Amino acid sequence: MSSSPDPVIWDLWHPVASLRDLQRNGREQTLLLDQKIVVGVGQDGAPEAYRTNREMPINEPWVGEEPLPVKQHLGFLWTSLGSPTDEIFSIPEAEETDRTNVHAATVGVACSAPRAIENFLDIAHFPYVHTDILGVEPHTEVVDYDVDYENGEIWTRNVFYYQPQAAVQQSGGVLAHYWYRVPHPYVAVLYKASGAESERMDIVIALLVQAMTETSSRVRMFNSNLDDQSSTTQIRHWNNEIFGQDKPIIENQHPKRLPLDPRVETPIRADKLAIAYRRWLSDLGVTYGVIPSQHSSFGAA
Ligand SMILES: [Fe+2]
Repeated sequence: MSSSPDPVIWDLWHPVASLRDLQRNGREQTLLLDQKIVVGVGQDGAPEAYRTNREMPINEPWVGEEPLPVKQHLGFLWTSLGSPTDEIFSIPEAEETDRTNVHAATVGVACSAPRAIENFLDIAHFPYVHTDILGVEPHTEVVDYDVDYENGEIWTRNVFYYQPQAAVQQSGGVLAHYWYRVPHPYVAVLYKASGAESERMDIVIALLVQAMTETSSRVRMFNSNLDDQSSTTQIRHWNNEIFGQDKPIIENQHPKRLPLDPRVETPIRADKLAIAYRRWLSDLGVTYGVIPSQHSSFGAA
């Protein structure tokens, strides 16, 4: 079953291509919220996006298609099918001159966008899904942490987790310090101090999800790291390896759409962030990619 996108999701900016891929691959037809869109580069060299109702031959002129608003942000092309606000959330760290920004992975996933985001927010899966990299038994405990709502976003800044290999250039276990942030219903950002830098979060990874339909998505990973040792190829390999471990897990979750009813999929303490995410989606009025709660028991966030 598919529902029409809700106004919240419809009016948002959505990531639909990496600028690097656009320059390299040229025009591409894809889906956003069940709508056919085409992304590419115009004659003036600027990225463009159009809505279309047909399969577009690759060399055919874009005459008669509906132009969509576009923005370039974090190395990606963003567009909207509705009436978006002027601004897309920012990641200030990505502007820091000593960081390396990398479009690290694009992966098609047979899941809803909220399922992909919730999995990214789940700390407890590290030792079981990313064994010997982001976690290892018996270090499975997630120490309790705080979740806050700030300026319309979800934030947590005091997650600590033991990791055997917290970063590309890391050997030996560390107690990694995490922040998590959800600035957009289909975007999550993690900040990690993996031990290489004591004062700053040396790794920033954003999961940017393009909801093609309610049950199929394209996940893009953006890295902004303080790491002058790893090559871009190594960073891409790392991200693809990690997400390759997540992909079968999230594709096998049922139902495909994320249930927002708090009584579904009995939560445990480590799921605190996931519960906050579900509550936040519910409070925002998001219905696309989720199974809305029939009970308004959450209250105000
Ligand atoms: Fe994972």
